Amino acid sequence: MEAHRRLWGEPEFLSRAPGRVNLIGEHTDYNDGFVLPMALPFDTVLAVSEGQPHSGVEIESEGFGRLQLTGPLDGSEAGWELHIQGAHRLTSESVAVPSAWRATIASDVPVGAGLSSSAALDVAMIRALLRLAGASWTGADVARLARRVENEVVGVPSGIMDQLVSATAVAGHALLIDCRSLETAPHRLPEGTAVAVMDTGTRRRLADSGYIERREECVRAAELLGVDSLRDATSVESMPLGGGAERERARHVISENQRTLDAVAAIEADDANRLGRLMSMSHASLRGDFAVSGRALDQIVAIAEAQPACLGARMTGGGFAGCAVALVDAQGADSFGDAVIDGYRSVSGNTATVWLCEAGAGASVVELTP
Ligand code: GLA
Repeated sequence: MEAHRRLWGEPEFLSRAPGRVNLIGEHTDYNDGFVLPMALPFDTVLAVSEGQPHSGVEIESEGFGRLQLTGPLDGSEAGWELHIQGAHRLTSESVAVPSAWRATIASDVPVGAGLSSSAALDVAMIRALLRLAGASWTGADVARLARRVENEVVGVPSGIMDQLVSATAVAGHALLIDCRSLETAPHRLPEGTAVAVMDTGTRRRLADSGYIERREECVRAAELLGVDSLRDATSVESMPLGGGAERERARHVISENQRTLDAVAAIEADDANRLGRLMSMSHASLRGDFAVSGRALDQIVAIAEAQPACLGARMTGGGFAGCAVALVDAQGADSFGDAVIDGYRSVSGNTATVWLCEAGAGASVVELTP
């Protein structure tokens, strides 16, 4: 708001959307399966003002620079610009977005850490554009459009998890998402637990990782099993042995969908120990059958699991690098964070960051009355 005032005067509204951490249900979203993410207490926020005395559209992103929304994309756009231009283009296909406004963007979602800073930017931008156009959409429609920005403009073939949880999360709750129907159900985590997000400091872009290859393997695995998507498979028994890695990939997705539903049952039974065990089983399956973990992620998960307060831990998001997540006993949570940072430094020589996170709220628009 301060930056906006300095540049363009009083903002009229804020549009904010959070990053996310996924508790369980990894690499299941693009297989029409189940996921259980929660929104982080980290947001990307746009401050916006409309019309006179300004013409055209200018957007200033704190730490990234200035952008004018003009004609079609010319291929020279930097990462964040592509998201802004893409969201603007696709939203404008459905609603009449005004042609004169100013926006300032700031974010405390760690960028490139696998905590969905892109989804937060896309969702916050789309919500701002809808507000400018006077349109109101469901969270699922906002998420679908944000996913198209990612898939069609940025060129990352992601699923719907990140966008849908950013658009529709409920504060204090994790969100069970059925990625086929897009039905969602909020679940409060067991009493006395805390969620720790652990950043290894290592980075890998989704587009350059094995993400696309895994998606293709899942499509082939579904074909070999004679189902539309792996959501519909119940066992890999009928798949021929040998050949590629499709059997292992399918075994992960089938078991991960079941673990996600079991995790919700554990939450409903207030069984924090079982929830934690399921998270650790998820990591073993992602490391083995799905082969998307990495050295730094395995190290930090092992260190987390060795702490007395830890109920379970796993890599989170696309994998290969970035963040892991742990469920911990709230009473031991502070010393847990310090112990993980110390332990990780002594095995890897690198410095981890650990955040203890309450589940944040999904995207919203806040009107500012002068
Ligand atoms: C990334 C993608 C999501 C999902 C996860 C893996 O975060 O953006 O759609 O596929 O990887 O679960």
